[in-house]
Amino acid sequence: MTIERTLILIKPDGVKRRLTGQIIARVEAKGYDVVELKQVHATRELLEAHYEEHVGKPFYEPLVEFMLSGPVVAVIAEGHNVITGFRSLAGTTDPTTAAPGTIRGDLGRDWGLKVQQNLVHGSDSVESATREIGIWFA
Ligand code: PPS
Repeated sequence: MTIERTLILIKPDGVKRRLTGQIIARVEAKGYDVVELKQVHATRELLEAHYEEHVGKPFYEPLVEFMLSGPVVAVIAEGHNVITGFRSLAGTTDPTTAAPGTIRGDLGRDWGLKVQQNLVHGSDSVESATREIGIWFA
């Protein structure tokens, strides 16, 4: 058994659209445990630490601005292979083409805005999860 922990963020679009409950229900229905959960309005400093690997990419600044636009819900979920499992549950980055059945595919869409509003973030590796959990649950 590979029991892992991952950081899930319900982004400002998910919170504003009152999808927090539905998203967490999907995580729990998949069989993962929610071990920590809080709603926070992130600071720029926190987001710069979280997204440090994307500095310089064209979407970096709009993404940080979007994440500053409202509260987010930060969740630590735990379970066997939860890192890969949650990313699969979330669907691919672009909600327009994310597969039906996924969070982004079922609940997300392209709003024609300059930034991808794709509802959730999930850590992409054990190393990222450890780093991100340390940032959001210091
Ligand atoms: S990359 O370049 O392959 O690492 O990109 P990717 O893994 O797909 O995405 C990294 C994070 O950036 C977000 N992203 C975007 N946000 C806004 N606009 C655009 N165009 C965009 N492209 C990628 C993507 O959702 C990832 O953020 P998180 O918070 O991890 O979901």
